[in-house]
Amino acid sequence: MKPLSIPISALVVSLACSTAYADNIYPAHTDLPARTSLPNVSPLNSDLTNRGAYVARTADCMACHREDYSGGVPIETPIGNIYSTNITPSTQYGIGNYTEADFKNALRKGRAPKHQIYPAMPYPSYHGMSDDDISALFAYFQTVPIIDKPPEQITHLPFPLNIRSLMLAWNVINVPSTENRLGLSQTQQRGEYLVNNLEHCGTCHTPRNLTQGLDKDRYLSGAPLGKWFAPNITPDNDTGIGRWSERDIIAYLRTGKLDKQAYAGGPMAEAVAHSTRYLTDEDLSAMANYLKVVPAIKTDDYLIPVNVARLPSPKSTSITYDLLEQKDYLAKAKADTPHVSINQSSNQISNQSSSQNNNPNRVMENSTSPKSLYLTHCASCHGVDGYAQPDARYTAIVGLSSIRRAKPDALIGVIAFGAKGAFNTAPKMPGFEKDLSHAQIASITNYVRINFGGLPSSDVSADEVKRVIKEKG
Ligand code: HEC
Ligand code: HEC
Ligand code: HEC
Repeated sequence: MKPLSIPISALVVSLACSTAYADNIYPAHTDLPARTSLPNVSPLNSDLTNRGAYVARTADCMACHREDYSGGVPIETPIGNIYSTNITPSTQYGIGNYTEADFKNALRKGRAPKHQIYPAMPYPSYHGMSDDDISALFAYFQTVPIIDKPPEQITHLPFPLNIRSLMLAWNVINVPSTENRLGLSQTQQRGEYLVNNLEHCGTCHTPRNLTQGLDKDRYLSGAPLGKWFAPNITPDNDTGIGRWSERDIIAYLRTGKLDKQAYAGGPMAEAVAHSTRYLTDEDLSAMANYLKVVPAIKTDDYLIPVNVARLPSPKSTSITYDLLEQKDYLAKAKADTPHVSINQSSNQISNQSSSQNNNPNRVMENSTSPKSLYLTHCASCHGVDGYAQPDARYTAIVGLSSIRRAKPDALIGVIAFGAKGAFNTAPKMPGFEKDLSHAQIASITNYVRINFGGLPSSDVSADEVKRVIKEKG
């Protein structure tokens, strides 16, 4: 048994009476937004089962196997998509025939009864899962509603990657994916266990080594993730989250946002939606406390600090304001559309229109100026002032870390390929890769960075946009 499963008894208490418990022990964080109650905990179930339901949240099983555990979610890997499986207790399609020992082997060693599991399933992190947590999880999985059908999609990798036993050699080098640190307080040890083993934060935030295992020397220092970038979350002041207070970290993990500072989009939204928003105050505090003591690593992607004085103030809480502001631009854009030739490699478009637009009575910029591009393509969701349309379920983008990085890659990626809010019901953001030229995307990128990121200047070029789209596309 692992030495640090101590908070388990505390956890049972917190499931039973979470609010009173949290208030008493963490007076410093009483202003935290309330945590979302667990949908899969029931007074009809045993304590062990209910604890397993919570462990499943902390280990984020649902992000990959779906909320009903029916599987079929593609996990993008450099060798191709690997699909998650049905892990309901169906004997034909799920894990209904698993013994607890089989379950333990699958989680800790990536070994299913009849085959090796690909590490798209984060067993290199779950390797450190405690016996108690695995027993609770196993009890809980016996109570999950059975789904008697195969996942919508299953994995087909080409030879020789389809030889699952190759994973045995890989496991020798890459399991476990992290080591336990000495000299941590009990709270930090709980935090380490959550961050490294259950939540497996490093599977996205740690760069990979040559064999695609986690690079322990660059632990949590940021890594590209398909069309996204998972930033450096070590406590380095300039390139990581060193300037965040523990409360900031807790609030971000619970709500997916920090006002004028950060937003959890894409894969991070998934982590918040399926997992971290359900965590107790105690567990979030332990994670925040631990993240403050992991080795700080400086990377070349530094964050340009917010110059608050340069950030816009919200202009109006009336939706009419936004619509009127946009109206002229939209009309002009519509009238111009047939003439705008999308030329991927040059700035000709803006030259063309400025010569057409010499009418001194026109107060607005021409329709391909950075401002009009923003108003035409972005303001209907994010607002004229960047604070999002009133009552809209979209995120305000003012001050976000994703628009203040020295490397504009993440922002260009979002504009080119779009974004989906996983923990709100807002329709998704479309990608503009096909509708806008590289020069236009560059222009919007610069506009957003300067006007909503508070950057003194930004000179992203069409070539840079082209490179990012090629790399991420
Ligand atoms: C990051 C995504 C991810 C997360 C998180 C994840 N899994 Fe998986 N899991 C997968 C994928 C992908 C497979 C299929 C791998 C393969 O085909 O080799 C899998 C396979 C499995 C299997 C083997 C099933 C079989 O017999 O084929 C079990 C059991 C399992 N997962 C349980 C869990 C549990 C329990 C959790 C939470 C503690 C969890 N998984 C979290 C991606 C994930
Ligand atoms: C599935 C991949 C994935 C997992 C798992 C994940 N993250 Fe993230 N994380 C991201 C991405 C991508 C972003 C960037 C989000 C954005 O800018 O919208 C991010 C952003 C963040 C940020 C904000 C950093 C900043 O500078 O704005 C913090 C803090 C963070 N993650 C912490 C964590 C912690 C702690 C965990 C483990 C509980 C975790 N993440 C798990 C992908 C992930
Ligand atoms: C149809 C509505 C819509 C439009 C149009 C739109 N977005 Fe978004 N945007 C979203 C949604 C949805 C998200 C995901 C976050 C959320 O849940 O609101 C998002 C996220 C973002 C983010 C945050 C990325 C992060 O996670 O840190 C930025 C920056 C952004 N959009 C910029 C833009 C820009 C620039 C444009 C115009 C080129 C644009 N958006 C157009 C809906 C939209």
